[in-house]
Amino acid sequence: MSGKHVAKDQPQSFIFSSENLKTKDIILKKYPEVRKKSAVMPLLNLAQKQNDGWIPLAAVQYIADLLEVPYIKVYEVATFYTMYNLAPVGKYFVQVCTTTPCAIRGSGKIVEACKKYISSKEGHLSEDKKSSWIEVECLGACVNAPMIQINEDYYEDLDAISAEKIFKSFKDDSLPKLGSQKGRKGSEPIKQRLTLLKN
Ligand code: FES
Repeated sequence: MSGKHVAKDQPQSFIFSSENLKTKDIILKKYPEVRKKSAVMPLLNLAQKQNDGWIPLAAVQYIADLLEVPYIKVYEVATFYTMYNLAPVGKYFVQVCTTTPCAIRGSGKIVEACKKYISSKEGHLSEDKKSSWIEVECLGACVNAPMIQINEDYYEDLDAISAEKIFKSFKDDSLPKLGSQKGRKGSEPIKQRLTLLKN
């Protein structure tokens, strides 16, 4: 990934919703009071979920205050991991796996399609502000490479044509069924079983 994009337009303040304040208390109870800074990752995740998939800098400060640690301690975690977004991601946030198995199976073509149909710049919103994309490391579905994650869902067994179809579907919210785009079940062979057959 070519450096994390931090939004220029930032809200002035951030606080957890009343429901998330309760969740925050549940999270903090998992750690001894003197180790409460260990809750930084689940709290960043909570803030991101509350704020439509991205973490404003005001939330970084808010979490630092809650955990009684310097701002930089939370900021460095938020900037290190690809799972945290520091700029709006839109309704459809696409993560393209470009690790070796996906790369060998053509993830370069998926990245090209992202640039064409979403945004020429990684981590930036599309023109209609509805989607964005980033490159990520292995998402654990190598058996169905190449693959992408859209929000919480996996789309697998992709090629340039199926990727294009998915990205075009953002416009009218008509995404195809998630999972294998070649119709196979799990990671079973596409045509027929070739192993564990009786003689
Ligand atoms: S290499 Fe892409 S999912 Fe593992």
